[in-house]
Amino acid sequence: MSPCYILLLFLGLFCKTCHSSRVLELTDRFPEIRKDGGLWLVKFYAPWCGHCKKLEPLWMHVAQALSKTNIRVGKLDVTRFPNVANEFKAYATPIIKFIKPQAEHMYTGERTKEAIVDYAFRMAGPPVQEIKELQSVKKLKNDNKVFFIYVGHQKGHLWDIYFTIAMNLQPHAFFYSINKESYPEDFVNSTEPALYVHKEGIFYSYQDNFEKHTDLDHLNTTIFKWVNEERFETFPRITNENLKEVLKSGKYVVLAIVEEDKIKRIPTDMIEFRGKVETLIRKKRHIYHPHFQFGWMGNADLVNSLLMQRIPLPYLLVINSSTFHHHVPEDDPAEMSIESIEIFLEKILNKTSPMYGGDSVHINVARKFFDFKRGLEDMWKGNPILLLVIFTLPSLFFILIMWACCCSDIMDADDNDNEDDGTYHEKKE
Ligand SMILES: *[C@@H]1O[C@H](CO)[C@@H](O)[C@H](O)[C@H]1NC(C)=O
Ligand SMILES: *[C@@H]1O[C@H](CO)[C@@H](O)[C@H](O)[C@H]1NC(C)=O
Ligand SMILES: *[C@@H]1O[C@H](CO)[C@@H](O)[C@H](O)[C@H]1NC(C)=O
Ligand SMILES: *[C@@H]1O[C@H](CO)[C@@H](O)[C@H](O)[C@H]1NC(C)=O
Repeated sequence: MSPCYILLLFLGLFCKTCHSSRVLELTDRFPEIRKDGGLWLVKFYAPWCGHCKKLEPLWMHVAQALSKTNIRVGKLDVTRFPNVANEFKAYATPIIKFIKPQAEHMYTGERTKEAIVDYAFRMAGPPVQEIKELQSVKKLKNDNKVFFIYVGHQKGHLWDIYFTIAMNLQPHAFFYSINKESYPEDFVNSTEPALYVHKEGIFYSYQDNFEKHTDLDHLNTTIFKWVNEERFETFPRITNENLKEVLKSGKYVVLAIVEEDKIKRIPTDMIEFRGKVETLIRKKRHIYHPHFQFGWMGNADLVNSLLMQRIPLPYLLVINSSTFHHHVPEDDPAEMSIESIEIFLEKILNKTSPMYGGDSVHINVARKFFDFKRGLEDMWKGNPILLLVIFTLPSLFFILIMWACCCSDIMDADDNDNEDDGTYHEKKE
């Protein structure tokens, strides 16, 4: 049984009347249909949009993966049904939305099958799923996903706070609650109520005694902060899409950047480099985890744009998620040992490492310009003829228009000439 179906069973999402694994092509009747009470995962697309085409095969796999659930997967052509697109505020394409009869939510995460299916599962259920048997906890642990779990009775301030946070972060994380009868051995010494996050087979507890708190707002803020920091794996793959989320952790984000080709191969020396960074956070989690969120990236596009230069790979970069300043090591990352990476991180913490960039208007304009320039360079490498055509054609038009405007007097004069003097016209022919 695949982990996916275990999760399904457990979430109670197995359908009673199964839908086909096909992607349903939606029409202007959809606003009526959604009121029938179904759960929908819908892709709004335009036939000509490149990103939509790239999403097409993935979308079929998503439909397949959700075929045994009561979540229906559809797609809607916004060029044919602009009114429907308008109603769902699908102004750009492609847009992915989870749609319930009374609510809808736009997906902003990674465009991978696993991430989208997880998202659909989360959105389909209540914000907090209750676990009723020990077996389910074991299954969840084996599934190897990050999830939060509340231990204790579903009442009181902590529960209220947990529930609101779960409601806020439902699109991004799994939230569970468990009652005393189903405690796994991980919780035998647990006080009640208590809060844990599960990551890579280990439960980490929210280190606090809730009883002593009388200031609820403060407790709310600190728990929210904790959940927000803890909802990422220890060493996740960072993509253009999830970087935004990871930066919300409020920590320093440490990125090991390597070069992954189209079939996900990474050169050995870069795997070695990434391994060093990963070893550091896994072995010394207690030291670095409070301040740093680690991760790795498979290509340099985003970082090139952030740093406004083409970086050599492998690369090590630390981003301050509150100011968007960044830090880079003085040494060549490829040559760095675990110890020198540690010194680099310590210097960031004691504020002796120089910082660059930031998020000021000036930097952002420079960044846009750099992206534009880099786009042109890439295009030149890929297809110089096309670039020439794109740039020379408008210029030609421009020259023609300018000529037409500036010389209109002369043309008028010519016209008059023509009218006045028929012979001139004939001569010209
Ligand atoms: C906790 O704070 C969030 C905003 O940070 C707020 O939306 C929510 O209502 C608060 N929850 C409680 C139970 O006070
Ligand atoms: C629970 O507490 C006992 C006694 O303090 C200790 O020996 C045991 O290792 C603890 N179990 C866990 C899972 O922490
Ligand atoms: C980011 O930079 C600011 C200003 O220099 C600093 O106060 C803060 O501690 C830094 N780190 C994080 C994780 O925000
Ligand atoms: C900051 O940390 C580095 C690396 O551990 C150390 O060499 C340096 O002396 C520290 N500077 C300050 C001002 O503490």
